[in-house]
Amino acid sequence: MTAIMGPSGSGKSTLLHCLGGVDKADSGRLFFRERDMMQMLPSEIAGLRRTQIASIFQFFYLLPTLTVEENIEFPLQIQSIPQDKRRDSVASILKQVGMTNRKQAFPNQLSGGEQQRTAIARALITSPKVILADEPTGNLDSQNGRLILDLMQNLICAKGIALLLVTHSQEASAICNTTWKMQDGNLIV
Ligand SMILES: Nc1ncnc2c1ncn2[C@@H]1O[C@H](COP(=O)(O)OP(=O)(O)OP(=O)(O)O)[C@@H](O)[C@H]1O
Ligand SMILES: [Mg+2]
Repeated sequence: MTAIMGPSGSGKSTLLHCLGGVDKADSGRLFFRERDMMQMLPSEIAGLRRTQIASIFQFFYLLPTLTVEENIEFPLQIQSIPQDKRRDSVASILKQVGMTNRKQAFPNQLSGGEQQRTAIARALITSPKVILADEPTGNLDSQNGRLILDLMQNLICAKGIALLLVTHSQEASAICNTTWKMQDGNLIV
Protein backbone atom coordinates (compact mmCIF):
# COMPACT_ATOMS: atom_id res chain seq x y z
CA MET A 1 0.00 0.00 0.00
CA THR A 2 1.69 3.13 -1.25
CA ALA A 3 0.52 6.72 -0.98
CA ILE A 4 1.47 9.30 -3.60
CA MET A 5 1.41 12.91 -2.43
CA GLY A 6 2.50 16.19 -3.98
CA PRO A 7 1.24 19.61 -5.06
CA SER A 8 -1.66 20.16 -7.44
CA GLY A 9 -0.48 19.76 -11.04
CA SER A 10 2.58 17.69 -10.09
CA GLY A 11 1.31 14.76 -12.17
CA LYS A 12 -0.25 12.34 -9.67
CA SER A 13 -3.44 11.69 -11.63
CA THR A 14 -1.47 11.51 -14.87
CA LEU A 15 0.74 8.82 -13.33
CA LEU A 16 -2.33 6.79 -12.29
CA HIS A 17 -3.85 7.21 -15.77
CA CYS A 18 -0.65 5.81 -17.33
CA LEU A 19 -0.48 2.93 -14.83
CA GLY A 20 -4.14 2.13 -15.46
CA GLY A 21 -3.67 2.10 -19.22
CA VAL A 22 -6.14 4.92 -19.90
CA ASP A 23 -3.38 7.32 -20.95
CA LYS A 24 -0.20 6.68 -22.92
CA ALA A 25 3.14 7.85 -21.61
CA ASP A 26 5.34 9.69 -24.16
CA SER A 27 8.46 8.05 -22.77
CA GLY A 28 9.64 5.70 -20.08
CA ARG A 29 8.73 2.07 -19.46
CA LEU A 30 5.76 0.55 -17.75
CA PHE A 31 5.44 -3.02 -16.55
CA PHE A 32 2.55 -5.01 -15.13
CA ARG A 33 3.83 -8.20 -13.48
CA GLU A 34 6.94 -8.19 -15.68
CA ARG A 35 4.94 -7.59 -18.86
CA ASP A 36 5.71 -4.42 -20.81
CA MET A 37 2.40 -2.51 -20.93
CA MET A 38 3.72 -0.13 -23.59
CA GLN A 39 3.97 -3.10 -25.99
CA MET A 40 0.49 -4.42 -25.27
CA LEU A 41 -2.38 -4.22 -27.75
CA PRO A 42 -5.31 -2.01 -26.67
CA SER A 43 -7.38 -5.19 -26.28
CA GLU A 44 -4.81 -6.65 -23.85
CA ILE A 45 -4.83 -3.45 -21.80
CA ALA A 46 -8.64 -3.52 -21.78
CA GLY A 47 -8.41 -7.11 -20.52
CA LEU A 48 -6.09 -6.04 -17.69
CA ARG A 49 -8.54 -3.29 -16.76
CA ARG A 50 -11.41 -5.77 -16.68
CA THR A 51 -9.69 -8.31 -14.45
CA GLN A 52 -6.47 -7.10 -12.78
CA ILE A 53 -6.48 -3.34 -12.31
CA ALA A 54 -9.38 -1.45 -10.66
CA SER A 55 -9.85 2.25 -9.96
CA ILE A 56 -11.55 4.33 -7.30
CA PHE A 57 -12.14 8.04 -7.90
CA GLN A 58 -12.93 11.22 -5.98
CA PHE A 59 -16.31 11.62 -7.72
CA PHE A 60 -17.28 7.91 -7.55
CA TYR A 61 -18.45 7.58 -11.21
CA LEU A 62 -21.26 5.12 -10.51
CA LEU A 63 -23.64 4.47 -13.40
CA PRO A 64 -26.70 6.60 -12.54
CA THR A 65 -29.33 4.35 -14.13
CA LEU A 66 -28.17 1.21 -12.28
CA THR A 67 -28.89 0.31 -8.65
CA VAL A 68 -26.13 -0.27 -6.09
CA GLU A 69 -26.14 -4.02 -6.69
CA GLU A 70 -26.26 -3.60 -10.48
CA ASN A 71 -23.28 -1.19 -10.38
CA ILE A 72 -21.29 -3.72 -8.36
CA GLU A 73 -22.31 -6.58 -10.64
CA PHE A 74 -21.44 -4.72 -13.85
CA PRO A 75 -17.70 -5.66 -14.04
CA LEU A 76 -18.67 -9.35 -13.75
CA GLN A 77 -21.36 -8.99 -16.39
CA ILE A 78 -18.89 -7.69 -18.98
CA GLN A 79 -16.72 -10.73 -18.20
CA SER A 80 -19.70 -13.00 -18.94
CA ILE A 81 -19.58 -14.61 -15.47
CA PRO A 82 -22.71 -16.80 -14.97
CA GLN A 83 -25.60 -15.18 -13.15
CA ASP A 84 -25.64 -17.45 -10.05
CA LYS A 85 -21.92 -16.81 -9.47
CA ARG A 86 -22.41 -13.08 -9.97
CA ARG A 87 -25.23 -13.04 -7.44
CA ASP A 88 -23.16 -14.84 -4.78
CA SER A 89 -20.16 -12.53 -5.27
CA VAL A 90 -22.30 -9.39 -5.15
CA ALA A 91 -24.11 -10.55 -1.97
CA SER A 92 -20.79 -11.26 -0.26
CA ILE A 93 -19.15 -7.96 -1.20
CA LEU A 94 -22.30 -5.96 -0.31
CA LYS A 95 -22.00 -7.40 3.19
CA GLN A 96 -18.29 -6.57 3.39
CA VAL A 97 -18.87 -2.90 2.57
CA GLY A 98 -22.02 -2.69 4.71
CA MET A 99 -24.37 -1.84 1.82
CA THR A 100 -26.73 -4.84 1.85
CA ASN A 101 -29.70 -2.81 3.05
CA ARG A 102 -29.10 -0.17 0.34
CA LYS A 103 -28.64 -2.57 -2.57
CA GLN A 104 -31.81 -1.48 -4.39
CA ALA A 105 -31.00 2.24 -4.17
CA PHE A 106 -29.85 4.35 -7.11
CA PRO A 107 -26.65 6.44 -6.81
CA ASN A 108 -28.54 9.75 -6.52
CA GLN A 109 -30.31 8.39 -3.42
CA LEU A 110 -27.01 7.71 -1.63
CA SER A 111 -24.74 9.82 0.56
CA GLY A 112 -21.18 10.41 -0.65
CA GLY A 113 -19.87 7.81 1.78
CA GLU A 114 -22.40 5.24 0.56
CA GLN A 115 -21.49 6.02 -3.07
CA GLN A 116 -17.82 5.47 -2.29
CA ARG A 117 -18.56 2.19 -0.46
CA THR A 118 -20.41 1.06 -3.59
CA ALA A 119 -17.47 2.11 -5.76
CA ILE A 120 -15.06 0.19 -3.50
CA ALA A 121 -17.26 -2.91 -3.81
CA ARG A 122 -17.28 -2.48 -7.61
CA ALA A 123 -13.47 -2.24 -7.57
CA LEU A 124 -13.08 -5.34 -5.38
CA ILE A 125 -15.64 -7.57 -7.13
CA THR A 126 -13.18 -8.78 -9.80
CA SER A 127 -10.44 -9.58 -7.20
CA PRO A 128 -7.94 -7.27 -8.93
CA LYS A 129 -4.20 -7.35 -8.27
CA VAL A 130 -3.95 -3.56 -8.03
CA ILE A 131 -6.30 -0.77 -7.02
CA LEU A 132 -5.53 2.76 -8.21
CA ALA A 133 -7.30 5.29 -5.97
CA ASP A 134 -7.28 8.98 -6.87
CA GLU A 135 -8.34 11.14 -3.89
CA PRO A 136 -10.97 8.61 -2.71
CA THR A 137 -11.82 10.73 0.35
CA GLY A 138 -11.46 14.10 -1.39
CA ASN A 139 -15.20 14.64 -1.67
CA LEU A 140 -16.21 13.35 1.78
CA ASP A 141 -16.52 15.02 5.18
CA SER A 142 -13.92 13.95 7.73
CA GLN A 143 -16.13 11.37 9.46
CA ASN A 144 -17.12 9.62 6.22
CA GLY A 145 -13.56 9.96 4.96
CA ARG A 146 -12.33 8.10 8.02
CA LEU A 147 -14.91 5.32 7.50
CA ILE A 148 -13.81 4.90 3.90
CA LEU A 149 -10.12 4.78 4.88
CA ASP A 150 -10.86 2.12 7.53
CA LEU A 151 -12.81 0.10 5.00
CA MET A 152 -10.07 0.38 2.37
CA GLN A 153 -7.39 -0.54 4.87
CA ASN A 154 -9.33 -3.56 6.14
CA LEU A 155 -10.58 -4.96 2.84
CA ILE A 156 -7.71 -4.15 0.48
CA CYS A 157 -5.03 -5.16 2.97
CA ALA A 158 -6.85 -8.36 4.03
CA LYS A 159 -7.23 -9.42 0.40
CA GLY A 160 -3.56 -8.80 -0.37
CA ILE A 161 -4.30 -6.32 -3.13
CA ALA A 162 -1.70 -3.67 -3.97
CA LEU A 163 -2.96 -0.11 -3.47
CA LEU A 164 -1.65 3.09 -5.00
CA LEU A 165 -3.40 5.92 -3.19
CA VAL A 166 -3.12 9.48 -4.48
CA THR A 167 -4.04 11.90 -1.72
CA HIS A 168 -3.53 15.36 -0.26
CA SER A 169 -4.40 14.07 3.21
CA GLN A 170 -1.85 12.94 5.81
CA GLU A 171 -4.57 10.89 7.46
CA ALA A 172 -5.22 8.98 4.24
CA SER A 173 -1.53 8.40 3.54
CA ALA A 174 -1.20 6.95 7.05
CA ILE A 175 -3.07 3.76 6.01
CA CYS A 176 -0.19 3.03 3.60
CA ASN A 177 3.20 1.45 4.32
CA THR A 178 5.10 3.86 2.11
CA THR A 179 4.65 7.41 0.85
CA TRP A 180 6.11 8.68 -2.41
CA LYS A 181 6.21 12.37 -3.27
CA MET A 182 5.69 13.87 -6.71
CA GLN A 183 7.07 17.18 -7.81
CA ASP A 184 7.02 18.73 -11.32
CA GLY A 185 6.20 15.39 -12.92
CA ASN A 186 8.86 13.42 -11.07
CA LEU A 187 8.55 10.85 -8.33
CA ILE A 188 10.77 11.56 -5.35
CA VAL A 189 10.79 8.32 -3.38
N1 LIG B 1 -3.03 13.84 -21.25
C1 LIG B 1 -2.28 14.90 -20.93
N2 LIG B 1 -1.40 15.43 -21.80
C2 LIG B 1 -0.63 16.49 -21.50
N3 LIG B 1 -0.68 17.11 -20.30
C3 LIG B 1 -1.51 16.65 -19.37
C4 LIG B 1 -2.37 15.52 -19.62
N4 LIG B 1 -3.10 15.29 -18.49
C5 LIG B 1 -2.71 16.23 -17.59
N5 LIG B 1 -1.78 17.03 -18.10
C6 LIG B 1 -1.07 18.12 -17.40
O1 LIG B 1 -0.14 17.49 -16.55
C7 LIG B 1 0.02 18.20 -15.33
C8 LIG B 1 -0.28 17.27 -14.17
O2 LIG B 1 -1.68 17.10 -14.03
P1 LIG B 1 -2.33 16.07 -13.01
O3 LIG B 1 -3.80 16.15 -13.22
O4 LIG B 1 -1.70 14.75 -13.18
O5 LIG B 1 -1.91 16.68 -11.60
P2 LIG B 1 -2.27 16.21 -10.14
O6 LIG B 1 -0.99 16.03 -9.41
O7 LIG B 1 -3.20 15.05 -10.20
O8 LIG B 1 -3.02 17.48 -9.54
P3 LIG B 1 -4.25 17.56 -8.49
O9 LIG B 1 -3.64 17.37 -7.13
O10 LIG B 1 -4.77 18.96 -8.69
O11 LIG B 1 -5.27 16.54 -8.85
C9 LIG B 1 -0.90 19.40 -15.42
O12 LIG B 1 -0.14 20.50 -15.84
C10 LIG B 1 -1.91 18.98 -16.49
O13 LIG B 1 -2.46 20.08 -17.13
MG1 LIG C 1 -5.18 14.78 -9.67
